[in-house]
Amino acid sequence: MEMQTSRLLFRPWSEEDAPALFRLASDPDVGPRAGWPPHGSVEESLEVIRNIFSNDHTWALVLKDKGELIGCMGYYVFGESNIDIGPDDAELGYWIGKPYWNRGLATEALRFMVDYCFNTVGFITLWSDFFLDNPASGRVMEKCGFVDTGRENLLSHLYRGGEVPVRIMRLDYAL
Ligand SMILES: CC(C)(COP(=O)(O)OP(=O)(O)OC[C@H]1O[C@@H](n2cnc3c(N)ncnc32)[C@H](O)[C@@H]1OP(=O)(O)O)[C@@H](O)C(=O)NCCC(=O)NCCS
Repeated sequence: MEMQTSRLLFRPWSEEDAPALFRLASDPDVGPRAGWPPHGSVEESLEVIRNIFSNDHTWALVLKDKGELIGCMGYYVFGESNIDIGPDDAELGYWIGKPYWNRGLATEALRFMVDYCFNTVGFITLWSDFFLDNPASGRVMEKCGFVDTGRENLLSHLYRGGEVPVRIMRLDYAL
């Protein structure tokens, strides 16, 4: 399903996105901050699209005016999440390619996803987490209403996750 904000189109990933995904995700400043290694080839990006991004709760983020792929937004449900979430909860995850940082795009995308998750899907509590050495992502969460739980986790299955703790944030549905 496609959805829009003022500047962004949320659309399903396509195998044709592999070269553009590789250009963004091969940057060592992107994936490691989100818990995955930089992509090493266009073929690896294609496998990620096929095996990780091809579902009904992961979207490619595209700049509407230029038609450029800029990042990814998605949620994980009970059983898929890195966090101990409940059956009515979701964990949100996102990244934006470096050429597009600090333009408010992650905030615009996350704000929209929060609204979609609460008011369309019907989740009760949303969760997210960020590495302690990646405060920009924590700031994006705060701007979208997430509050610091004070909990930190080492998530050894994530890239860097065994060495750098993540801080866990939550947002409860409010009428
Ligand atoms: C984190 C990330 C999503 C932010 O995307 P973005 O589109 O640049 O975010 P926005 O422009 O909406 O907001 C960034 C905020 O962080 C702030 N910020 C930027 N660098 C910062 C830093 N080093 N320390 C603290 N805050 C910082 C910005 O000032 C801005 O806050 P403000 O509006 O109050 O000034 C993007 O940098 C990214 O994808 N990084 C790599 C992957 C990643 O971290 N994913 C998230 C995993 S939890």
